[in-house]
Amino acid sequence: MHTIMVLNAKGGCGKTTISTTLACYFSGRDYNTALLDYDPQQSSRRWLELRPADRPKITTIDAVRPRSGVTRTFALHTGNQTEVVIIDTPSGVTGNQLSDLFNRADTILIPVMPSIIDYQAVELFLKELMRYGKHKTMTKRIGIVANRVRIRTKSYMAMEQLAQFFQIPLIATLRDTQNYSIAMESGLGICEMQRSLTSKDDKQWQPLLDWLHLKVPHKQTPPVSRENDNSESTSQDSWSGIARQSALQFNR
Ligand SMILES: Nc1ncnc2c1ncn2[C@@H]1O[C@H](COP(=O)(O)OP(=O)(O)OP(=O)(O)O)[C@@H](O)[C@H]1O
Ligand SMILES: [Mg+2]
Repeated sequence: MHTIMVLNAKGGCGKTTISTTLACYFSGRDYNTALLDYDPQQSSRRWLELRPADRPKITTIDAVRPRSGVTRTFALHTGNQTEVVIIDTPSGVTGNQLSDLFNRADTILIPVMPSIIDYQAVELFLKELMRYGKHKTMTKRIGIVANRVRIRTKSYMAMEQLAQFFQIPLIATLRDTQNYSIAMESGLGICEMQRSLTSKDDKQWQPLLDWLHLKVPHKQTPPVSRENDNSESTSQDSWSGIARQSALQFNR
């Protein structure tokens, strides 16, 4: 089982969007996938309630109010069959909660938006994260995802400097597009939307998926079809995880 956590103390940077997209990706590739929502706002769980019944199943557990009468570890156990756990986290995490979350993850993705306010917030967050993880960072993989990038401005360059300063790889750059809110409103991930609408996004996700697959072995199962898409998936399908070139350099 591999646990991928999407974490950043800054609110609104894309934690839920990235968590739900990843849950769709892995469930659509036949991985037994669980989505845990540690955020009292429960946005991921609400999204899951909207998920059409014919889409690949994603299991969930109420991580905010776990079952009483058992240990917390037991209550949060997603089952022995689970292959990939995606954890969506709240904003404002710090102190013991941050250290506890850090310990639960195998891979941590940190979404960051290219703005000075976000950089200031993430700098403090990363300093704290690195303190908790001082002795453990070698066993964990941490990567930054630049999110809602419109154009590669000076502000975006600062993201690269931030990543360099903390020696955390910048894994992927995702554009600002309403595709994400459309997917969110329909219980889908953009990897399940009509291919013609998301081709740019598919390409942008590929380095991130490749990086994750360095620890989550590929499956041979073909991906399930998308909305309004009756075509067979091919090796051109950039969500298929087959063409893995660029991200290999990011292995840590
Ligand atoms: N790449 C993107 N392009 C356009 N809109 C986006 C993108 N990523 C996220 N959004 C939108 O930004 C808003 C905040 O995203 P999201 O809820 O995923 O952030 P969050 O980090 O989970 O927020 P919170 O800290 O409140 O839980 C949502 O309306 C979402 O649809
Ligand atoms: Mg959220």
